[in-house]
Amino acid sequence: MFNLTQTQQQDLLTAARLARAQAYAPYSGYRVGAAVLDDQGRIHAGCNVENAAYPEGLCAEAAALAAMVLAGTTRAHAVLVVGSGDETGAGWTTPCGGCRQKLREFGSPDLVIISANGAAIGPSFTLAQLLPDSFGPDHLPPRLPD
Ligand code: THU
Repeated sequence: MFNLTQTQQQDLLTAARLARAQAYAPYSGYRVGAAVLDDQGRIHAGCNVENAAYPEGLCAEAAALAAMVLAGTTRAHAVLVVGSGDETGAGWTTPCGGCRQKLREFGSPDLVIISANGAAIGPSFTLAQLLPDSFGPDHLPPRLPD
């Protein structure tokens, strides 16, 4: 498992909490922020962005991954997710199934996933724990570059 320093964990928490404050969640009221640590030690944040056409909503993790790709990196080491569990009593937020697969695209099965909320840091997982026997880019045959 990729080992995070205390500083990296704290920086991820700060970035994800700031991102969560920007969440657009008028339909669920469930605000989420996510922060990804890339292979260069940089942090990319995202928030959930809902839509009146409900299925078109975007998860915070997907937004953070898009920010990482925009910044020119396609390898993630860790992601920290700040949900609304402390407000709703619903427990820790872990990435939805779709986001677990999105994380798989840019991270190894060792990718660290940390749950947090407005009050505390919660449990950590590896992607392999949350998405066992996963399918990723390494399963596909090599393609000619674009
Ligand atoms: N959501 C996220 O952004 N990330 C998660 O890990 C779980 C769920 C969002 C989707 C939707 O906008 C709201 O939270 C309620 O499901």
